[in-house]
Amino acid sequence: MKSLSGDDWVPPIMGSYIDGIGHTPLVRLCSLFKETNICLYAKLEMLNPGGSMKDRPARYIIEQGLRDGTFQPDTHLIESTSGNLGIGLALVAQFYGLPFTCVVDPKITKTNLHMLGCLGAQIDMVHEPDEHGGYLQTRIRRVQELVEKIPNSSWINQYANPLNWQAHYYGTGNEIVKQIDGPIDYLVCAVSTTGSILGISRRVRETFPDVKVIAVDAVGSVIFGTPSLPRELPGIGASRVPELFTPDEIDQVIHINDRESVEGCYRLLERERIFAGGSSGSIVAALQKLVPRLPNHSRVVTVLPDRGERYLDSVYDKEWVSKLP
Ligand SMILES: Cc1ncc(COP(=O)(O)O)c(C=O)c1O
Repeated sequence: MKSLSGDDWVPPIMGSYIDGIGHTPLVRLCSLFKETNICLYAKLEMLNPGGSMKDRPARYIIEQGLRDGTFQPDTHLIESTSGNLGIGLALVAQFYGLPFTCVVDPKITKTNLHMLGCLGAQIDMVHEPDEHGGYLQTRIRRVQELVEKIPNSSWINQYANPLNWQAHYYGTGNEIVKQIDGPIDYLVCAVSTTGSILGISRRVRETFPDVKVIAVDAVGSVIFGTPSLPRELPGIGASRVPELFTPDEIDQVIHINDRESVEGCYRLLERERIFAGGSSGSIVAALQKLVPRLPNHSRVVTVLPDRGERYLDSVYDKEWVSKLP
């Protein structure tokens, strides 16, 4: 164990707050499945400055765009997101002085709306549900209108932008293979745009070609061809199949409902003292189904995408939980 008082390791001085993005710890979770002999590691992506792994694509997309001329110093960035990518983009866009409009819908949490405002994002709220009863299509149409209306504007388009998965290939995935102390048998990741699972698994497979890649999706998400159903937790799942998605690269999918995700969050808190967001709970719930079927001494790596604070009004609110089906 590294001593807190020891001076053998100190982090380097960084040039800026956003240089704190990435280089997150990989920790051994010894208590979650202590009754078994599997070896479980978690990449703590919640420790990114914006509170989630989406800081990585936010930074990567903006910096690549500025470098290759896709973005100029006054380009107005636009994205449809009510959650973590919006917060990451707001953080990085503000750092580079780029205007950023975030297209959101009434389902956005009060906390996220507040945070986006604090971080300088311009908020564009759609109000009309689309033909499927959600807001996804309305938000996309609004993005297209804004791109036409605002001169020198550019749509980030996280569901189709290859820089999304590349951020995780060069970032999260590369760090995992350098940090890990032996082979990886299973990689377990929550999915929405699928950028993180694809980027991380592409890098991990280069070093550990036999790794099995397991996606954790929400019940009601359509990514893997299952029917669309109402779901409450943000972050995990999608109501359209991302353009980025290549199903052949995923070995197995486990679907988790909202209640199981909440229970997973409480279990993670109780057993490991990790206060994490809803999709981390989904991962724990998926691992509970998976672990009993794994060979002895399997080595499993997962990614915990965001922090618990943003879920105080949902996952960690007893009244909200009591209303779940
Ligand atoms: C909390 C959380 N978990 C999981 C995901 C899924 O990540 P990806 O979009 O890379 O599939 C996201 C994406 O926004 C997220 O915010």
